[in-house]
Order: sequence, then structure tokens, then C-alpha cells
Amino acid sequence: MTVSPVRRGLTRAVMAAAMIGVLAPAVQAADEVNIYSYRQPYLINPLLEAFTKNTGIKTNVIFAKKGLIERVAAEGRNSPADLLLTIDIGRLSGAVAKGITQTVKSSVLESNIPASYRDPKGQWFGLTRRARVVYASKKRVAQDAITYEELADPKWRGKICVRSGQHVYNVALIASMIAHHGEEKTQKWLQGFKANLARKPAGNDRAQVKGVFAGECDIAVGNTYYMAKMQLNEKEPIQKEWAASVKMLFPNTAKRGSHINLSGMVLAKNAPNKDNAIKLMEFLSSADAQKIYAEVNNEYPVKADVPWSKLVKSWGDFKPDTLSLDVVAKNRKRASELVDKVAFNEGPSS
Ligand SMILES: [Fe+2]
Repeated sequence: MTVSPVRRGLTRAVMAAAMIGVLAPAVQAADEVNIYSYRQPYLINPLLEAFTKNTGIKTNVIFAKKGLIERVAAEGRNSPADLLLTIDIGRLSGAVAKGITQTVKSSVLESNIPASYRDPKGQWFGLTRRARVVYASKKRVAQDAITYEELADPKWRGKICVRSGQHVYNVALIASMIAHHGEEKTQKWLQGFKANLARKPAGNDRAQVKGVFAGECDIAVGNTYYMAKMQLNEKEPIQKEWAASVKMLFPNTAKRGSHINLSGMVLAKNAPNKDNAIKLMEFLSSADAQKIYAEVNNEYPVKADVPWSKLVKSWGDFKPDTLSLDVVAKNRKRASELVDKVAFNEGPSS
């Protein structure tokens, strides 16, 4: 008998149980929980170790960069997945749209996670926050405040670097602009933003900061935690210089606040260890776990009163946009269509 790839990565006990066709009860009896994670081991493992220490519940994780949502869908009713950990409201709401999630009703989750950072129907929950900010050249940009609206101001002509407009981070930002300004105004803004690009959108967020460092552009758009990833980069120390060449500007801090995106979790529709999974979800939203997220990945906790890491504090205080991420999720499709409509990814010349 062959073991399907579905089982790979799970424990020997689970595999043995799977072979005699009693996966769910066996997993439950063993007091385990199965996690599919898009988030990396260095971040997730310390959280799971703390959870096991607190509860005695064993964790089995499959880490992957892509394909996990599709995998749960393909596994269907036999899926061993209990909990899926991922980033971005696009991927959280995408999992719901794919039909692989179920509703969780938990007063612990509801009190730990503010309403704007979880699905009103309880299908997805945010665990950490990141702001989408402007990285501005210390040398060439005098101003210390900025708005997203200003990215379309002709004064930035040829001076902005940004990754693909279709990347989930940018789609969420544009979706928030639709929520605040309506579609027509957002389209105009996106056209102005595109006209200000220094080059065709390409590369990741850090590549845009590198563009500022190299003098290709004066401002770049990126997520906050990348500042930490550059500032602490021993593998590629040149990134410390990229980071040192820019200042972080939190857009719209004077009024509605900076756009927020999330990492988060969903409970799998056919979770064989549902009770354990909910215990893990509650633990991940607790002060102890939120502190680990804050320290290990330099993200902003979703739970109020959990301290930010020292490094994150050094970037300064800011005002987060309180727009519900559920609204962002609902505007994503229109945002993505606008990116194509204005041919954003063709860059400034077209
Ligand atoms: Fe990222």
C-alpha cells in the first residue's frame, strides 16, 4: 500500500492510523492538531512549542510556500488539516471562497481579536498586523509625512518604486482606497500613481527599497516588517544599507490612518481535531503567543496591550486605519480589475 502525499509530514502514528482507515479518531485519541502553514518554521515553531507546553496537545505541521488551500480542497472530507495559517486578507478570504473553512464561535477569539481584524461570520481571524508604508530616501525626500493619495501627485513623477499592482499586498491597499473614495476616484488615483512610477513594477517589497538606495526612485511602497528583515539581515548585510538609506513614513497618519493587512488563520471545514484546533486558535490570539509574534517577526499584534518589539517601537508610533478587513476583502476583486484597467503593471511609459 502506498502512502499518499497527503499523509507525508504527519507523524508515524497518524500514518499508521491512516493506513487502516481510521485517521480522524486516531488523531483525536492522540490529542494532536494538524496545521498547514504558509508561514515559515522559524516563526511558527516557537508558538507551537509554547502551545504544546501549555496544553500537552501535540502539533503536526506541513509547511509550504504555495498550494495548501488547493491541497485541502483536493483532500476534501479526508483532509487531515485542522488549521491553516496564512498571510494577507486575500488569502484568508480566498480560503473561505474556496469552501475549505468553517465558522468558529469563540468568546476568547472575540475578546482577543478586534472586530475589524476578523470575519464577522467567524470564518477567518487575524493574528498579526502589518502596515503598508512608504520608504522614503533620507537624502532626497525632505518631508516626514505622506498620504496614499499623494502617490498620484505629479511632484513624484518618475520617482516611485512599487511591486506588481496585482500582488495581494497592493490589491488590498487599492481595495481600501475604493472603500474610502469610491471606484471612479480610485481609478484616477491609480492612473496618477502609475504615471509617477520610476520603472515597471517588478520584484518584491525589499527590491523597491533597494531601488531607493540605488537612486532609481525616491520613494517605495512596502510592508513594515521588511524594515526589520533588512535591518537584521546577516546573510546579505548590504540590506542593512538599503534600510539605512530610507525613513519609514506611515501614510495618512494625520487623518484616517495607515492601511493595515493581516496574517491569520482559518479552521478547516473537515478538521478531524476541531476542539484541539480551536484551543490552538485561542492560544495564538493570547497575550503569550501575540508577544512571540511581535518579537520573532516584528509584526504588530492584533491583541491590544501586547507590547511591540523594541525594533518595531523604534520606527515610531502610527495610527492604523480602522477600516474592517472584511470590507477590504469585498473590494479586492474590483481593485484587481482596476489594476488591469489602467495597465498599472506596464509601468510609466504606456
Ligand atoms: Fe511579505
